[in-house]
Amino acid sequence: MASHPRALMVGSGIAVPPKVVDNHTLARIIETSDEWIQERSGIVTRHFVEAGVGSSDLGAEAARAALADAGMDASEVDYVVCATMTPDHYFPGSGTLIQERLGIDPLPALDIRQQCAGFAYGLQIVDALVRSGVARTVLLVGCDVHTALMPFSKKTWAVLDGQDEGPLSAEELEYNSQFRHLVVLFGDGAGAMVFRRHDADDGRGILGHRLYGEGREKDILYVPGVGSKSRPYVSRETLEEAAMVPVMDGRSVFKLAVTRMPEVTRQVLEDHGYGVDDLDLVVMHQANLRINEVARRQLGVPEEKVHNNIQKYGNTTSATLPLCFHEAREEGKAPEGSLVAFTALGAGLHWGAVLMRV
Ligand code: ACO
Repeated sequence: MASHPRALMVGSGIAVPPKVVDNHTLARIIETSDEWIQERSGIVTRHFVEAGVGSSDLGAEAARAALADAGMDASEVDYVVCATMTPDHYFPGSGTLIQERLGIDPLPALDIRQQCAGFAYGLQIVDALVRSGVARTVLLVGCDVHTALMPFSKKTWAVLDGQDEGPLSAEELEYNSQFRHLVVLFGDGAGAMVFRRHDADDGRGILGHRLYGEGREKDILYVPGVGSKSRPYVSRETLEEAAMVPVMDGRSVFKLAVTRMPEVTRQVLEDHGYGVDDLDLVVMHQANLRINEVARRQLGVPEEKVHNNIQKYGNTTSATLPLCFHEAREEGKAPEGSLVAFTALGAGLHWGAVLMRV
């Protein structure tokens, strides 16, 4: 069992863009309905950034909120870890962009890209950095802007934004609707946590993790173009074939999520001598409310111990775990001393669970 020092969470914060998009609004730009989206995914609204806002902008805002919550100045941070699958640029990553926006002196800043499992991987990195003595105060940020992945025209965006009354042409509606299974699921957002080295042997802090990656499952969720396998990495064909849009076999992801998230949560609990009943809160990735309902039953935890907020935000990828935890904490579901399990599964395939005592 891991012993002290441990990484203790001392602050959390979130950032979501002000624009709220409901299902009825999406039905103006793709063939869908509020009923279908709510029944199949549980999502009612999501937040979209305005054009020109990148994931690092949201990430920096969430970081500031987490630092304020911790009552700390940004200058106290000695390591930045940023999880995102939608960096502002192909390179560099968003870690240094966040460092720059926070106005902190040069420091180690890294990006990790494990998609929906990104923040869980980040928690493992924070634990390793703190316990090895490499860092004392670590800022972990999860931020994603999915709207940039949507291959919509200016006209579609204008209709979505209410600047154009529409309707779209039948042709444009048909084009957009090819991506409807993706578009309805995702939203933009960011969440952050600040961790401090904790030397007291009181059992608080990040306790352990079980993380996995399996490239054999890559094809069920990936972006086929816009990478080094394409020459040039963006071409006219990329756009014509919409190869910059993620490909997702939703059913396969669904099946894997409902088995592996409960399985890996049990594993990490067993590793540390705990059972499911010892948990005070389970924070699951928010990809689909039905996934979380099945996973909750598989795990055997009561509804009140699982906090879901996909209804408001959709799937925010790396931002989901901190966004969900922060809200649960604000509602009093994660008081000091409570035992929390985080679990996620996403593209890669990457999945895992992390155990933390608040
Ligand atoms: N509105 C209306 N109809 C739709 C929509 C939509 N938005 N999207 C798909 N449909 C249609 C399909 O075309 C299909 O029609 P057909 O029967 O005429 O062919 C029908 O609805 C059923 O489609 P399914 O894909 O079978 O629907 P399902 O119930 O599986 O729900 C969903 C689809 C919501 C995508 C679900 O499979 C899911 O949530 N999967 C998991 C996704 C996930 O976890 N992704 C994580 C990725 S995050 C990351 O790592 C980046």
